[in-house]
Amino acid sequence: MNVNRRHLLTGTIGAAAVAMAASACASEDGGGDGSGGKKVGIAMPTKTSERWILDGNNLKTSFEDAGYEVSLQYSNDVAADQVSAIETMVGQNVNVLVIAAIDNKSLSGVLAQAKGQDITVIAYDRLILDTPDVDYYASFDNTKVGTLQGTYIAEALALDTAPGPFNIELFAGALTDNNTKYFFDGAWAVLEPYVSAGKLVVKSGQTSLEQIATENWDGAVAQERMDNILSNFYNDGSKVDVVLAPYDGISRGIIASLQGNGYTEMPVITGQDAEVESVKYIIDGLQSMTVYKDTRELAATTVDMVVAVLDGKDPEVNDTETYDNGNKVVPAYLLEPVSVDKTNYQEILVDSGYIDAKELG
Ligand code: GAL
Repeated sequence: MNVNRRHLLTGTIGAAAVAMAASACASEDGGGDGSGGKKVGIAMPTKTSERWILDGNNLKTSFEDAGYEVSLQYSNDVAADQVSAIETMVGQNVNVLVIAAIDNKSLSGVLAQAKGQDITVIAYDRLILDTPDVDYYASFDNTKVGTLQGTYIAEALALDTAPGPFNIELFAGALTDNNTKYFFDGAWAVLEPYVSAGKLVVKSGQTSLEQIATENWDGAVAQERMDNILSNFYNDGSKVDVVLAPYDGISRGIIASLQGNGYTEMPVITGQDAEVESVKYIIDGLQSMTVYKDTRELAATTVDMVVAVLDGKDPEVNDTETYDNGNKVVPAYLLEPVSVDKTNYQEILVDSGYIDAKELG
């Protein structure tokens, strides 16, 4: 049985049910016995973002309910601290490491150590680069995240029919995160033809990944960059019509900048992660959309993978081509992201139990 598939089919079961399913799966498959005394080390990037707190909690509960001992560590977005945290877990003889990397190129040394001890390594959400010592990748279709953001913009501005031109500014995530490129490439493939045709105009001229990246995915960094863009390129009374933002924390930083610069009506602004603050912004008309990635499904997929590997079986994967880490193509299980705005947040986020209506005030 596959926990993830069951979850996808019902679509509405909560984290506790996923955990129960994981537990049932483990015992049915014999993984329950296999997991006796087995330890999992989970390394998450930061607690400053709501999504990683949810990921950590979902993973911990799901693994514990499947009979594993869990060590869960956060490293405040400091790559060297994450390396130390993983070294400590290797020293504690964990059987499995589940890692959402802060810096995708910083882990080769510690993962070589892990492989020396036969520890299974799962790259969680973010691929780990330049090492042979990563076994599987559990994530979402990262290119599609960008496609959904780009398509939302094209439709919101009716780019195929409206005369335009519209002023757009572009933001991307951290260069240390492998997902950043996939998100941007997905969105840019949709938007670039409109830029070439002159229907979208990037007044700042900043279109390369290096120019538009946001260190540590930090909203404050994005806010400062937006402030600079507004004062340098929009001091002639012109307005920003649309902002491509890759993640809700960055979107909120951009919105703070726009508000501070006198915008009373917001441009079209994208996002990702369906963080509660941003869903409230969507309801209030400040942010236009977000891309929802169900962290409960990602946790369930990861538990499935680990149970299979430790049981001596091949875990289910659905992509064996896309994620070349510079050393090998890492077999992946990719889940589907979903575009969410004012029109469907109730159905997708609230009715599914992902966000409690009370949290939205
Ligand atoms: C990415 C992740 C996004 C977002 C971002 C900032 O790696 O895929 O969903 O959370 O990090 O935390």
